[in-house]
Amino acid sequence: MESRVLIDEAAIARRVAELAKEIAGDLPDQSPMVVGLLTGSFVFMADLVRAASRLGIQPEVDFMAVSHYGATMEASGIVEVHKQTSLDVRGHAVLLVDDILDTGRTLSLVRDRMVEREPAWIRTCVFLDKPSRREVDVTADYVGFEVPDVWVVGYGLDAAGAGRELPYIMAVEPDEDRADETDEQ
Ligand code: IMP
Ligand code: MG
Repeated sequence: MESRVLIDEAAIARRVAELAKEIAGDLPDQSPMVVGLLTGSFVFMADLVRAASRLGIQPEVDFMAVSHYGATMEASGIVEVHKQTSLDVRGHAVLLVDDILDTGRTLSLVRDRMVEREPAWIRTCVFLDKPSRREVDVTADYVGFEVPDVWVVGYGLDAAGAGRELPYIMAVEPDEDRADETDEQ
């Protein structure tokens, strides 16, 4: 797998701190419900809530499991919710967090479903944005970095299950024989 670092650890740390500050400034109260989409958002969420904690934010944290990619790295167009949040979001401030906004189908569906549950306030936050890949008209309220149309791994994102543990973001050229294993988000 050929690869190169796109976003290094220091740049990530700086940007996450900035995002936390921006979000903390917009929140209607100090105890939002922060809901991440598994699996890709787990690293970003962990850093984001800790950065927000330094600013006095005391969130409740939960995850939802949603899948979009079926047998290949190409978006299947089908989004399935496997695990909803058990938090009662009605009347609360909700921040939805995902690793990357790609076609936009995942975030758009999850946001719509969440709105039906009547939170008092809802915003979306993605670590990465690939605007060139968008298929549905959706933007995130908070974006860490824009990336070009390349497959990226690290900081929670994977290529066929590999690379989530890397503390930085790399662009990869996946091997042909591994490209068909991606399933989890
Ligand atoms: P979409 O916006 O519904 O197309 O899907 C976004 C999801 O696709 C993300 O949450 C990731 O799980 C996955 N994804 C899209 N692009 C990449 C990438 O470059 N690397 C790793 N995962 C990706
Ligand atoms: Mg994901």
